[in-house]
Amino acid sequence: MKPPLLEITDLSVAYQTDTGPVMALRGANLVARAGEVIGIVGESGCGKSTLAAAVMNLLPATAKVTGGAVRFLGQDILTLAPQAQRALRGTAMAMIFQDPMTAFNPVLTIGDHLVDFQHQSRAPYRAKLARARDQLALVGLSDPDVILRRYPHQLSGGMRQRVAIAAALLMNPQVLVADEPTTALDVTTEAQILHLLRNLRQTYQGTIVVISHHLGVVAELCDRVYVMYAGQVVEQAMVDDLFHAARHPYTRALLACDPASFPNLTPVLPTIPGRLPDLRDPPKGCSFAPRCALRSARCTVAPPWAQVSPSHGVLCHEVGA
Ligand SMILES: Nc1ncnc2c1ncn2[C@@H]1O[C@H](COP(=O)(O)OP(=O)(O)OP(=O)(O)O)[C@@H](O)[C@H]1O
Ligand SMILES: [Mg+2]
Repeated sequence: MKPPLLEITDLSVAYQTDTGPVMALRGANLVARAGEVIGIVGESGCGKSTLAAAVMNLLPATAKVTGGAVRFLGQDILTLAPQAQRALRGTAMAMIFQDPMTAFNPVLTIGDHLVDFQHQSRAPYRAKLARARDQLALVGLSDPDVILRRYPHQLSGGMRQRVAIAAALLMNPQVLVADEPTTALDVTTEAQILHLLRNLRQTYQGTIVVISHHLGVVAELCDRVYVMYAGQVVEQAMVDDLFHAARHPYTRALLACDPASFPNLTPVLPTIPGRLPDLRDPPKGCSFAPRCALRSARCTVAPPWAQVSPSHGVLCHEVGA
């Protein structure tokens, strides 16, 4: 059998800080196959962006991989030489960030950027510019020639995010990672970008990994979802199972607190009581236990991963068996 496109095994990452290492990822696992759209959800600070940065080999210098592997078509990319890592980025894997401005240099035009992003291709300049124009049209920008001559600050946030998506797709990468791609946008623009990402599925053959704390975004786009809590994957399921048959008490709490699940305006939105554990000194047992209504004596011991069906797994003593 072919190896999966992307396979993250037992990945642990710690950030060095003045007050000690922050264990941002603690044994995270994820598998993505060609053509799948994978969602990653969880509260702020649970490690979603760290996971994305590890996949793209874009972890900051203060971050240290303390264990595990990230394999792209079977090859561990964390141990590749920096030059080989750079070669993979953009061509095999590309990323869309929350704030599209971070992807652009303010003194270069959009055309300059889109030609530059093709530096690994040997095509002549005119062909690269033509490809840039085609990509801009593909992401729904109606006047690509004008956009090519503009500077990033001359575009609206929604237009910039479309350009960022076009840029990410320029080299036809096999893995596209989108970290909160719509969070910085207003609701109308968010809906348009979601529509664009959904349509992409028809033409783009690779894997898309979408990170979001917005459950609606995940429900609309994804085939399969990983739920993260305190640096660990606590549940993995097909999107329908996740929304209709979630097992983990944390996933259930997230769903119960989703504003979209309330048909009427409520004066006070519910929240999950308590907060994320301090990742400088994570609990020895289940990380969610201090906030969990189902906790029992055995939750002081770390729970094992349990498959409740071939496509649904959970990290919980109480509901896993
Ligand atoms: N550069 C850094 N230095 C120190 N700690 C960091 C750094 N970046 C992230 N962290 C910590 O690592 C943990 C995971 O952060 P991460 O940004 O991956 O979470 P996230 O799930 O993406 O959150 P959000 O939804 O807010 O984007 C958090 O405790 C965070 O404070
Ligand atoms: Mg993040």
